[in-house]
Amino acid sequence: MTTTLSLRVNQEAITRDVEPETLLVTFLRETLRLTGTHVGCDTAQCGACTVHLNGRAVKSCNVLAVQVAGAEITTIEGLTQPDGTMHPMQAAFRQCHGLQCGFCTPGMVMSSIDLVQHHPHGSDREIREHLEGNFCRCTGYQNIVKAVAAGAVAMGV
Ligand code: FES
Ligand code: FES
Repeated sequence: MTTTLSLRVNQEAITRDVEPETLLVTFLRETLRLTGTHVGCDTAQCGACTVHLNGRAVKSCNVLAVQVAGAEITTIEGLTQPDGTMHPMQAAFRQCHGLQCGFCTPGMVMSSIDLVQHHPHGSDREIREHLEGNFCRCTGYQNIVKAVAAGAVAMGV
């Protein structure tokens, strides 16, 4: 039995029928085809599925779609301007080589923006601590930390 879910995703009003057990990440990827949000573990450990829920980073594999009725969700796709201009944090990850395979990157970027918006001027240690819920198998994290610091400056917060 389905239920009708209404919410906003990337500033667009959305209404869809969903099964009550559908995870938010599944709704985003399979129903809305927003596949920039990745699934790395499905057990709330890796952070690849991180999106913003009413402006705060959450792991969307750990939330039911029906729990976010009426909410504002932002995914990695929602960060880019209509003309293709990247969000300053995305640009900083590219500039600082804060990615290799890119699998973790959408989640890293969403978590990093949350950090900068709510804890500006964080030290390298604070950046590392904030991102401890986001796993990267490739980079060794050094350039990710540099990217977050550069992104914070570019965001001007
Ligand atoms: S897929 Fe959600 S934390 Fe890994
Ligand atoms: S860049 Fe490959 S997992 Fe992070």
